[in-house]
Amino acid sequence: MSTLVVHESMWGNTRAVAEAVAARLGDDATIVEVGQAPVPLPADVDLLVVGGPTHAFSMSRSSTREDAVVKGAEPGHTARGIREWLGELPESDHVDVATFDTRVDKVRHLPGSAAKAAGKEVRRHHLGRLVSTESFYVGDMAGPLLDGELDRAAAWADTLSSRPVTR
Ligand SMILES: Cc1cc2nc3c(=O)[nH]c(=O)nc-3n(C[C@H](O)[C@H](O)[C@H](O)COP(=O)(O)O)c2cc1C
Repeated sequence: MSTLVVHESMWGNTRAVAEAVAARLGDDATIVEVGQAPVPLPADVDLLVVGGPTHAFSMSRSSTREDAVVKGAEPGHTARGIREWLGELPESDHVDVATFDTRVDKVRHLPGSAAKAAGKEVRRHHLGRLVSTESFYVGDMAGPLLDGELDRAAAWADTLSSRPVTR
């Protein structure tokens, strides 16, 4: 049994959260950038953790990723985001799925979240059992992550490790 952590990131903030989560989950966790993420999931994966930046109140699209590059993000991450990757995954009845995003602290009161949108996708297309959805906060569009967010990511990973097994 193993964990796959898939991340999408334009400035590296979501990647940093993914790395903190994977490090806490230990040797059973493999981390991969969404551009290299496998379809279908390897047969031994029983926990999928998937994270991306919130763009325009939801998961990114190629247009918002290109917009990020115009605003100074590194090019090279625009081809595929978690929206497109989740769209390619087949149904699964044996994978637990946890979704996360990064979002800007200043607009925390606004409802849109890539993590929630990804979670809806998981439910709608029966990609697995959604076990958790979490947001982590950056100070501005390019980051940095707020103080304490990487510790919170590690604590969130602990809740995933200790999740109840229902099958
Ligand atoms: C085109 C675009 C749209 C964005 N829309 C939102 C938004 O609706 N809500 C929000 O909180 N942050 C929004 N952001 C900020 C991103 O969430 C932020 O850039 C991201 O968390 C940084 O993570 P990354 O370094 O992993 O890309 C947007 C950023 C871009 C580039």
